[in-house]
Amino acid sequence: MNNFEFHNPTKIVFGADTIARLSKLVPDSARVLILYGGASAEKTGTLAEVRRALGARVSREFGGIEPNPSYETLMRAVEQVRRDEIDFLLAVGGGSVIDGTKFVAAAALYDGEPWEIAQSGGAKVRRALPFGAVLTLPATGSEMNNGAVVTHKATHTKLPFRSPLLFPQFSVLDPSKTFTLPTKQVANGLVDAFVHTVEQYLTYPVQALAQDRFAEGLLQTLVEIAPQALAAPDDYATRANLMWTATLALNGLIGAGVPQDWATHMIGHELTALYDIDHARTLALVLPSLLDVQRATKHAKLLQYGERVWGIRDGSEEQRIDAAIAHTRAFFEGLGIPTRLSAYQLGQEAVEAVLAQLAAHGMTSLGEHRDIDLARSRRILEAAL
Ligand code: NZQ
Ligand code: ZN
Repeated sequence: MNNFEFHNPTKIVFGADTIARLSKLVPDSARVLILYGGASAEKTGTLAEVRRALGARVSREFGGIEPNPSYETLMRAVEQVRRDEIDFLLAVGGGSVIDGTKFVAAAALYDGEPWEIAQSGGAKVRRALPFGAVLTLPATGSEMNNGAVVTHKATHTKLPFRSPLLFPQFSVLDPSKTFTLPTKQVANGLVDAFVHTVEQYLTYPVQALAQDRFAEGLLQTLVEIAPQALAAPDDYATRANLMWTATLALNGLIGAGVPQDWATHMIGHELTALYDIDHARTLALVLPSLLDVQRATKHAKLLQYGERVWGIRDGSEEQRIDAAIAHTRAFFEGLGIPTRLSAYQLGQEAVEAVLAQLAAHGMTSLGEHRDIDLARSRRILEAAL
């Protein structure tokens, strides 16, 4: 096992009817800005519940944070924070709203041009406003981690950043708030959580026995609950399992002491920034091809994954690896999520465009061995055509 430090200060309040707990979680004297996305939070009644729970506190609102939140939109929220002398942020939404709130929390107190926060990967964050979250979409894990991803629309640049100052103080996870999600977003959430787990598990063995078993348990849980999560929107028990599994997939626990990949995410971010494909959908395009191209360096873990997650025990090692990758692809396709670029009418020109953006953003040595250079990214993308 590798050396590690693990610290996660986010308090989780989980369960039905927990939004009312905001009345205790948010400081009484706070001047709050509630941040949300498009129409969903208002339409579903979640915003009304939040307003009620905040009671007499001074609170303002900023709506309109879009999926794949943009720097341009978020800077308008930063202006409002300064204008209204806000000292506490409350995100109400999915990963995009929570990530956007993290950017606003850091940018509002940043001396200099706030895009540097993303360009520095978060290293330049010295201060941040405190914030909490009410999660409405299980997928990203943003509710219990210190990372975020923002997009500079003007340049099609989608960059991740993280900072120890950007953990939510608390997150309220009420599984019944997910009942209103469109099926497509539930499928996206299943795939995002699945790939987060794979990025931290499917690398090479370092005798991290608990992390491996924990990751395999999360993957098996996602596979097990997927049909019911899609078919029965108001099945509380299934949604509760989806919500907690997605949080556990990216709260630092399974990634402690193990090598991590993240190449699928970095290539996927370019596909979102260029073609506006939902985050999880880009991951389904990249991962199966990446596993194939990287099958030599991931050999041992691919066999372990095949056996323990998919029950693959027969055939030669190469056949078992083929089967493991095929199961992964079939799982995504079975959720209605394509694994080929052609499904989005994208061809060779998209491969060239993504490679140019990877080069422009310095994404030229990705993966757990830093061996995914542009030539290898080309092979991965061409295998996904
Ligand atoms: O905008 P509204 O109207 O609210 O609709 C949203 C949005 O259109 C809708 N929605 C959310 N909750 C709903 C709902 N509709 C009905 N009922 C509800 N309860 O869902 C749509 C998608 O929301 P979004 O927040 O964009 O989805 P997701 O949670 O998948 O977040 C994706 C973003 O997170 C980033 C991605 O890159 C992407 O920008 N990620 C963040 C990570 C992190 N911070 O650790 C890690 C991830 O890998 C990921 O990169
Ligand atoms: Zn993701």
